[in-house]
Amino acid sequence: MEKVCIQGDVQLKGTVSISGAKNACLPMLAASLLTDEHCILRNVPQLRDVNFFIQLLQTLGVHVENIAPNTWKLQATHITHEASYDLVRQMRASVCIMGPLVGRLHKVSLPLPGGCVIGNRPIDLHLYGLQKLGCNVSMSQGIIHITADKLCGHSIFLGGPFGSTVTGTANLVMAAVLTPGTTVIESAACEPEVTDLCRLLQQMGAEIEGIGSPRLTIHGQNQLHGFDYTVIGDRIEAGTFLIAGLITNGHIRLEHFDPRHLGALLHVLEEVQADIKVDYESHTIEAFPCLERLKPFNITTLPYPGFPTDLQAQMCVLGLCIPGLSLITERIYPQRFMHIAELQRLGAKIILEGSTAILQGAHPLSGADVMASDLRASAALYLAGLIAQGETFVHRVYHLDRGYENFDQKLRNLGAQIQRSQENS
Ligand code: EPU
Repeated sequence: MEKVCIQGDVQLKGTVSISGAKNACLPMLAASLLTDEHCILRNVPQLRDVNFFIQLLQTLGVHVENIAPNTWKLQATHITHEASYDLVRQMRASVCIMGPLVGRLHKVSLPLPGGCVIGNRPIDLHLYGLQKLGCNVSMSQGIIHITADKLCGHSIFLGGPFGSTVTGTANLVMAAVLTPGTTVIESAACEPEVTDLCRLLQQMGAEIEGIGSPRLTIHGQNQLHGFDYTVIGDRIEAGTFLIAGLITNGHIRLEHFDPRHLGALLHVLEEVQADIKVDYESHTIEAFPCLERLKPFNITTLPYPGFPTDLQAQMCVLGLCIPGLSLITERIYPQRFMHIAELQRLGAKIILEGSTAILQGAHPLSGADVMASDLRASAALYLAGLIAQGETFVHRVYHLDRGYENFDQKLRNLGAQIQRSQENS
């Protein structure tokens, strides 16, 4: 296992090229299961989650080839419907194979992905939607078995107690594109990653109306073609670097992603009076040194276009840099606060009341050993390490490698001093 040592008190400077979006490319890789024609996916980030997903597809029989950097060719000629527990348990996004396998083979057996450190993550809405399309769902020995004699388009309401579901929408759209008749998904997730998936499916020949809106109308096809598609830039990676620039009072420029996907964050940054220049034409954002004038904020995470839960942990670190009280309420995963105790180890003044973090900013942090618990918590600990006095050691850093391509090197290119070593060295 690796740990990382981050030297604090640094001012970041330079340009970051944002990688392809993890949460867009995982369901897109799964979309290759919908056809026996070859598919090419470009701008795929090199990540642990992507590697797991590719392995999962290979165990299903998909022929996969890395034909160029960040470019994969996939062909699902002869595939099976049974996924292995060893891979599925390592990554919740494995559920994204359900929809395409139902659409193509009318059956899938998938081990229930299990619990997750960021909170309860049920898949009841995915299963409810598949049942509406005509599937039978049963469970035995920890494995969900889904079969359908005959699929038929239907109206599906996908809203749950915490809003819609991102991978649930992806699954149902992928099942519906090969389901005879018309399927209407109400309260569909509107996240840019879902929109991008729908565009890829259109390239395969799918008929989808209302893309980007909470009502998707899908007219099922008999068969779909291959695709050659480029994944959008990762808005969460971009947001993480933007926050890194602000907390270090740095001057950074982000490129290769669409700033419109970060509307909620940009709105908050305008409110706190950050000095930021957004160029929607060239797809760049520039952040200038402005730390001293920033004002506290009050945000609540919500489904897109609301404030993304995947930037909540990083925003905690921004709150710690601004004098006064900032509030962050988590509405998607009310227990997603594992990073708070670790930030407190660095000296952060934070009170957690229910699912609201109250952050008292501008108290100096000092480096310490901290433990990464999940992907976004790891990113927050890196950010905290950049502003703490002395050295911060982040343990269990493999969580970060699940979702940030080349994060250490990208930060080093901006002037950060970061070193990895084996846990026992
Ligand atoms: N929910 C249900 N029932 C369901 C599905 C979801 O009640 O059947 C609830 C969840 O418990 C949660 C809320 O609905 O409270 C939203 O969950 P959603 O299903 O949208 O999450 P997901 O699809 O499992 C994706 C991202 C997550 C991101 C969430 C929310 C992928 C692979 N994962 O997860 O990304 O936090 O949407 O935006 O797309 C990350 O990248 O760090 C990450 C965790």
